Amino acid sequence: MPSGPESAFWHPFADMSAVAGHDFVIASGDGCHVTTEDGRVFLDATAALWFCNVGHGRAEIGEAVQAQMANIASYSNFGDMATRPTLDLADRVAALAPMADAKVFFTSGGSDAVDTAVKLVRRYWSVLGQPARTGIITRTRSYHGMHMAGTSLAGIPANRDGHGPLDTGVANVAWDDAPALAALIDEISADRVAAFFCEPVIGAGGVYPAPDGYLAEVRQICRERGVLFVADEVISGYGRTGRMFASEGLEPDLVLTAKGLTSGYLPMGAVLVAGSVAEPFWTTPGLLWRHGYTYSGHASAAAAAMANLDIIEREQLVDRVAGLQLGLTATLISLRSHEFVVDVRSGTGLLAAVTIDPQVLAADPTVMPRVVAGMRERGVLTRGLADGSVQISPPFVITRAQLDEIASAIDGALTAVGSSQAATSSQARGSGLLPDITSDEAGGFGSLDAQLLADVPPHHGG
Ligand SMILES: Cc1ncc(COP(=O)(O)O)c(C=O)c1O
Repeated sequence: MPSGPESAFWHPFADMSAVAGHDFVIASGDGCHVTTEDGRVFLDATAALWFCNVGHGRAEIGEAVQAQMANIASYSNFGDMATRPTLDLADRVAALAPMADAKVFFTSGGSDAVDTAVKLVRRYWSVLGQPARTGIITRTRSYHGMHMAGTSLAGIPANRDGHGPLDTGVANVAWDDAPALAALIDEISADRVAAFFCEPVIGAGGVYPAPDGYLAEVRQICRERGVLFVADEVISGYGRTGRMFASEGLEPDLVLTAKGLTSGYLPMGAVLVAGSVAEPFWTTPGLLWRHGYTYSGHASAAAAAMANLDIIEREQLVDRVAGLQLGLTATLISLRSHEFVVDVRSGTGLLAAVTIDPQVLAADPTVMPRVVAGMRERGVLTRGLADGSVQISPPFVITRAQLDEIASAIDGALTAVGSSQAATSSQARGSGLLPDITSDEAGGFGSLDAQLLADVPPHHGG
């Protein structure tokens, strides 16, 4: 991999000591492919960071943004001011929302949406005369963005550690245990719990769809205890699971969205709020919620979102995702028999993960970066997730043949790592460097190409 001059750019979720000077620079994109500055073409197995759902290079989104910018790029939406695309987008999203009489609060992205939701549920209870209802419950493995609120909510401990005092009103519950949620609310006392935040499909934590019946059960538990149910659909929203929203049928109180709202063409998020929760804020004279961002409802981002939703509807991309679900599972299933693979999770739209044996990863932390690098060598871009899984979440326009390409790149990369692992082990053993042991006692592989690793830093980001 070429190494260039160091840029001042501080990459998110990166080991800068390895990455500086080794930037992997994407220059252009078209459909499911991206091209680097030095002309290499890759299949995008993750829709960038789960966001580019309509695929890269959609000129019509750019044209819509350009047209809006030619009028006015944006303006303040505080108080009574608004721009037309903002109003139109709010109505369009409200009509899609999986709850009755939705109102829409725009943000600049997913972390803003989480922050907005934490403040909103607490403010809601305080307006209703129950200011002690401040507690927030989240699930282990969950990812809710990187603002201080989302960091506090995180079910991935590594993402919380080392940032000083976080919000102390947050408790974690096992991600797959509905009765444990009921017990925790009862233990804290329902009148001190504001909301339960739930990714219908855990994303960055490793792509874990909720167990059968779990979502309906936790929804009911919340309803019975008056706890607000917040569906964090920053990844799943706008079609990723083969339905417009994964929380359809649950009547969530809030739905948090971002990424797929604009397919990332411009940054934007939206908090969808059930009419019943919005009601006191919309009807009480003199009640002003002191919250909002400079770019809440940014006009050009709203124009991008409208054009993006046009594409999703015109090309029936949500149905397309549902149609590809089986094919994705079929092509990944054989990876289950690979010696390093302990789990393949698929069957929820275009969301899947291939989990590498935690013992192998613990014994040799270079395995995941090498698998990801091996996939790059085979022309496929992906990354490792927090739980040691390979992420698969391609753009909705992917073809069945391209899904096969992703699966065979994973297979090839795993096999290559397996062979080098075996070779290094027997070489080391032969030279007396390594005792005859397995997995978790085995040390790292000193011969690893540092540049290859620099290319694919492991991270736990969204
Ligand atoms: C479920 C979930 N919530 C919130 C976020 C934060 O979104 P953003 O990175 O746009 O701030 C993410 C990002 O991946 C996410 O996956």
